[in-house]
Amino acid sequence: MPTRSMMYGGSPSPTTFRNNGREYLEYFINVAGLRPTDCVVDIGSGDGRKAVALTRYLTTGTYLGLDPVKVGIEWCAKTITPRFPHFKFKHIDVFNGQYNPGGSIRPCDTRLPVADAEADFVIVTSVFTHMLPNDVDHYLSEIARILSRDGCTFTSWFLLTPAAAHRVAHGTAASSAPRFGTSNGTFAVENPAVPEQAIAYEESWVTARCREHGLIPRVDRGWWSGAAETTGYQDHVILSRAAQ
Ligand SMILES: C[S@@+](CC[C@H](N)C(=O)[O-])C[C@H]1O[C@@H](n2cnc3c(N)ncnc32)[C@H](O)[C@@H]1O
Repeated sequence: MPTRSMMYGGSPSPTTFRNNGREYLEYFINVAGLRPTDCVVDIGSGDGRKAVALTRYLTTGTYLGLDPVKVGIEWCAKTITPRFPHFKFKHIDVFNGQYNPGGSIRPCDTRLPVADAEADFVIVTSVFTHMLPNDVDHYLSEIARILSRDGCTFTSWFLLTPAAAHRVAHGTAASSAPRFGTSNGTFAVENPAVPEQAIAYEESWVTARCREHGLIPRVDRGWWSGAAETTGYQDHVILSRAAQ
């Protein structure tokens, strides 16, 4: 476990850190078919919330965590890799207004350090909630490039449907949800001064962009927006390749 002061990825305590990892491991296996033998790439791996949980499951598979925040990558590389050598972490110096304002690479110019069709399972949780549209679109093209033919990608979002936008506007979304302003037709932000603080996307935009990149989306709604009958807090979009 990272220390409390090291936990910058969204969990305020060791208990929530551990529970979030365990909760997502269940989704990865039961909802998206993660196998212990998979080659996993975790884009925006943060302070290792998902990696720590995955060490219990990925036996003969491999894991690569990529993140612009050096301190998180260094902690994971120092703490996890020596005990689990098939878990590796790489720093990518990509700009993000919230997480890496000094970053030297524009997100839309980023080439992920992964070979074409190498990844069986790609994780992007609570990351597109901090990225702007052109950058998200470019990352979707990168995912389409690195994903193996039968591979699967697990992404999480704040998705705006007409019903969700109505609940957000009328204060009936979850009390913990970011206070998003009005959507411009593609996305809405909580803080215009630092848009990457929290970003919600129109669901129709997300699914159209995924399809454009040859990725078939399946949406599982989250309860952040006050939707009933949900799985997790954020909305989950599970992507598989369109049949060739
Ligand atoms: C809320 S944290 C989530 C961390 C982790 N995915 C998790 O679920 O615990 C958001 C992470 O996205 C990373 N991030 C932001 N922009 C990114 C980008 N362009 N490429 C990769 N990671 C990015 C941040 O550095 C941060 O670690």
